[in-house]
Amino acid sequence: MNEVIPLRKFLSLLAALLLLCGCAEVPEETVPEYVLTYAENQPEGYPTVLSAERFAELVRERTGGKVVIQVKAGGEYGSESEVLEQMAFGGIDFARVSLAELSDEIPKLNILLLPFLYEDADHMWRILDGEIGEDFLSVFSEAGLVGLSWYDAGARCFYTDVKPIRSPADMAGLTVRVQDSHMVMDMVKLMGATPVTFPYGDVSYAFEMDKIDAAENNWPAYQIQEHYRLAKFFTVDEHSRVPEIQLASQRTWDVLPEQYRDIIAACARESALYQRELWKEQEARSRAEAIEAGCVEIIPRTVQKDAFRALAEPLYERYCADYMDLVAQIQNG
Ligand code: GCU
Repeated sequence: MNEVIPLRKFLSLLAALLLLCGCAEVPEETVPEYVLTYAENQPEGYPTVLSAERFAELVRERTGGKVVIQVKAGGEYGSESEVLEQMAFGGIDFARVSLAELSDEIPKLNILLLPFLYEDADHMWRILDGEIGEDFLSVFSEAGLVGLSWYDAGARCFYTDVKPIRSPADMAGLTVRVQDSHMVMDMVKLMGATPVTFPYGDVSYAFEMDKIDAAENNWPAYQIQEHYRLAKFFTVDEHSRVPEIQLASQRTWDVLPEQYRDIIAACARESALYQRELWKEQEARSRAEAIEAGCVEIIPRTVQKDAFRALAEPLYERYCADYMDLVAQIQNG
């Protein structure tokens, strides 16, 4: 027997379908059920910010305007550590942070921060897109957070104004700004320099005030924050690939109806694919612009990468002794 779908039901199904494929406009007058906050410490126009905005837009469309996520860029909600503190009690609902910020609180994350863990970006994505990356998304519950998706942050490299860094010997005596992670601090010590932590937004100030001689980050951060003005020697040593993570506060998550959670989770993953595309373009553009503006690139073949790698080796046992099988699986993945 053919079942006849009543017209009203048909129309609402059609509307839901159109929203799902992004073909329908959300009426202006729709009253949201949830207005949620999203913290970003990068400036407007940065790949992670554009992707957060895409994420928010997808969520708005697919919930028919019932869930509105307001993205605040440029560290408006505070430094990454301040944001994470607030997320623990639901003061901020979503954020994109660098994984390094959570590695002291969730020690298993040190695995993904290990220096020279991957051969290249493709290797990292094979791991994060696979079962291992999926399992890692669940560890954030230890800190009252829900892991939604991985964003790209390229490879981190050292930069300074003192002299070109080609070998660990060139690091001797330098004070290097690092992220707030014990393992990263230890890495710099093993390389013969002195680590010091400053929030990302204060790195230029720290250079200007002579509180640091060097820092480490990827091409986009180096260029967009204009660190090349203060530290022109950029060494392509690519000592680590620290991914970014899109997170929700567990407190917020628990009050959202399941149907919205599913939509949000799917939109986060979709925005991550978009972010990866933007990232590749931005990386190339930032490198070219920094060099154009006077950055001196110390190219990989003139860098004694193996010497850096050898010095960082003790971190594997020191921070990941309980997970050496998993580390080997990642290295061979
Ligand atoms: C990356 C990341 C930032 C982070 C920064 C840092 O650039 O995108 O979110 O704050 O590293 O070095 O602190």
